[in-house]
Amino acid sequence: MRHHPVTMALHWLLALMILGALAVGLYMTGLPFSPTRLRLYNWHKWAGVTILALSALRLLWRLTHRPPAELPMAAWQRRAAHHVHAALYLVFFAVPLAGWAYSSAAGFPVVLFGVLPLPDLVTPDRVLSESLKPLHRWLAYALATLVVLHVAAALKHHFVDRDGLLLRMMPARRGGAPTVQPIHR
Ligand code: HEM
Repeated sequence: MRHHPVTMALHWLLALMILGALAVGLYMTGLPFSPTRLRLYNWHKWAGVTILALSALRLLWRLTHRPPAELPMAAWQRRAAHHVHAALYLVFFAVPLAGWAYSSAAGFPVVLFGVLPLPDLVTPDRVLSESLKPLHRWLAYALATLVVLHVAAALKHHFVDRDGLLLRMMPARRGGAPTVQPIHR
């Protein structure tokens, strides 16, 4: 059984947006002060706040919709997958919240898409901003590490176990087999 189309859409949209936010975040901080740097900072913040909102929607969806039955795999793999998924959900919230709080503490309120002023998460405070900045950075690195583990596991299932796990998160091809059956070895 494949995942629900809404689950797939949220999964791939968030995957793209998170990779984009990571790449822009790493790139923009090395730029000299310029209009480009300012623009990228804004895009990064808007993407991050959108990721936060979509993550809330995704968590709500996950809690109200049961995923398809799990494929057969070793107990340690199932446990590892559950831990990585739980940790991913945690950082989906922690990274953007830390970024938003850092921006507020540093005295730069977020104006979503340049039109919607968002409330400050904390009052401007230089000392606090100096600890929120590395917190946001290290949480983002933790998120990147979890994404690497998650992708490596998905690729192992696809190319080594060939159990169809990755295809469950892909739309069905027209005229193709309706469901991929697990291969038992
Ligand atoms: C999932 C969402 C997000 C990801 C993956 C992410 C990732 C990153 C990364 C990798 C950096 C570079 C850190 C470094 O090497 O110093 C960064 C910097 C930054 N992020 Fe985010 N971020 C996210 C959301 C947000 C949000 C929602 C905001 C604010 C509303 C924000 C504000 C900032 C700011 C201001 C910096 C620059 C810090 C500095 O000047 O050193 N981020 N982010």
